[in-house]
Amino acid sequence: MASAAPAQTLGQFTSTAKRVPSVRTDLAGVFSTALRTAFPNVDIQPAVAATNNRDHGDYQCNNAMALFGRMKGKEGAPKNPREVATAILNALPDTTAIDGTPTLAGPGFINIKLSSAWLSERIQILVKQRAVVDFSSPNVAKEMHVGHLRSTIIGDTIARTLEFCGVDTLRINHVGDWGTQFGMLIQHIAETRPGGLQGTTTEEVSDLQTLYKASKARFDAEEDFKARAREAVTRLQSGDPEFLETWKRICEASRNEFDAIYHRLDVHILWRGESWYNPRLTPLVEELIERGIAEESEGAKVITVEGLKTPLMIRKSDGGYGYGTTDMATLAQRIHDEKAEWLIYVTDEGQSGHFKLVFGAGKRAGIIPAKNPPRIDHVGFGLVLGQDGKRIRTRDSGAAVRLVELLDEAKARCAASIKERQETTIERGGEELSAEEMENISSVMGYGAVKYADLKNNRATNYKFNFDEMLDLKGNTAVYMLYAHARIAGIIRKSNKDIKEVAQTAHISLDHASERALALHIVRFTEMLEDTLVELAPNRITEYVYELSNYFNTFYVGCKVLGEKEEDSRLLLCEATAMIMRQCFQLLGIKPLYRI
Ligand code: ARG
Repeated sequence: MASAAPAQTLGQFTSTAKRVPSVRTDLAGVFSTALRTAFPNVDIQPAVAATNNRDHGDYQCNNAMALFGRMKGKEGAPKNPREVATAILNALPDTTAIDGTPTLAGPGFINIKLSSAWLSERIQILVKQRAVVDFSSPNVAKEMHVGHLRSTIIGDTIARTLEFCGVDTLRINHVGDWGTQFGMLIQHIAETRPGGLQGTTTEEVSDLQTLYKASKARFDAEEDFKARAREAVTRLQSGDPEFLETWKRICEASRNEFDAIYHRLDVHILWRGESWYNPRLTPLVEELIERGIAEESEGAKVITVEGLKTPLMIRKSDGGYGYGTTDMATLAQRIHDEKAEWLIYVTDEGQSGHFKLVFGAGKRAGIIPAKNPPRIDHVGFGLVLGQDGKRIRTRDSGAAVRLVELLDEAKARCAASIKERQETTIERGGEELSAEEMENISSVMGYGAVKYADLKNNRATNYKFNFDEMLDLKGNTAVYMLYAHARIAGIIRKSNKDIKEVAQTAHISLDHASERALALHIVRFTEMLEDTLVELAPNRITEYVYELSNYFNTFYVGCKVLGEKEEDSRLLLCEATAMIMRQCFQLLGIKPLYRI
């Protein structure tokens, strides 16, 4: 589970380029204090603006004239606006924002110059927000399965939300490309391929499933093969060129498969597998031993963490490094080299113990600084279950369901249902969709449905994978949401008006209760973003967008749009709803449809 973040840290991350409090607002705060101190009995809003002429200063406060007018004639009133301005000036609280003493000008303007240090700090904040999201992270040579689907779509949505909030986000695919499985794979290839390892092609190793199964079977059954496979790991890790070459081919073949899925899901991520950290491991471990952070335990080196029973293994007794060692390196690299202020690791809940250990050890070792530490979260998620409530499996082989098959089926089912609906539409004289439109709609819907069905769950709980449910036209599904959006787009289309033009001239009035309720929900979009990032909970977005469509429905039932005198105002409410829906779709990685 995500640890709760202190509000001020979060403020830094949710303040988008659009939503960084303006300098004007900050200065208004300073002058508000001064006004209250100098004239406690007068209720007045601070009037702060940028100066027209930069020679006079950067900003000015223009309250003195109006204040003077309001107090005139009363007992003890100031004699002129300049006197009012002087009183405000004298009451200015200490602030690092203002350089030197503000000056008085004209009838009573207070001119101020911003301190350059303060100004540079503001610019610094703009460029300093950096997060690393470690997600997807399948293992080479093993098929990317439905468990990795969760990590991929939850991680992608978290990254999209951070990006939307203006955070510079590094998306990292911590691919398992350096495990002991390579020993048996390479050894098996060496023994079964006619020419040995020499000149193996990516093509030859592309059937990784079969290759993995065959070598695993031998590894489990043949003692001497097991021994040779272990030797092969050592040869690979010590950099034997032929072994490295074959390893590269296997990675390439895996990568082609993964990329095809990322392409379908529209997920962009940097491939930085475990092997990438390899050169960093020995120096890191040696330093930790030298500093006495790592201790000896039955020939291995471990780091103990207060409050946790098992220590973190950082060097095995045979001298090898493991998953934990690499993750210590990810901490150091992401904090010190990437300068990340927020580290997020998205994996199944089963790894929460591992991450507690890694973060605890990182703190002990000082890799995570005690002063101004970055925010670090392990975002855990539950299992994907089949209808029987057990881990999802394919009927025939009992192997984990392949992701490609799931996506194919979702798309095919959507295509079938759209075709069916098309027939009725055509019977009624409606417009026919082109083949191209059909293709686009079914993939948007199919992939969208899979994503939405996953994201709408509280991520910590297990959920049942069910096509009928996720493709339901009426439930809380992507299909329903996509139809809702297309319907709104249809209303706007039918008005035959240029909505941007309407927006220039028409005023939105919220006289009907359902209009007001809809408007209120729309403006809460930013609060939803905040909740999503505080809890790292994508289901906040689906909840919000589902409620949005409900508020819209109530509005649409209660308020006719086309042909009414309120048409323009209501069209604008439709447009605002559609815009916010699209923004939510964007965060969820779902493409909008305008016509279905
Ligand atoms: N490859 C791992 C798995 O399939 C996930 C890696 C997650 N990231 C990390 N830095 N440990 O379970």
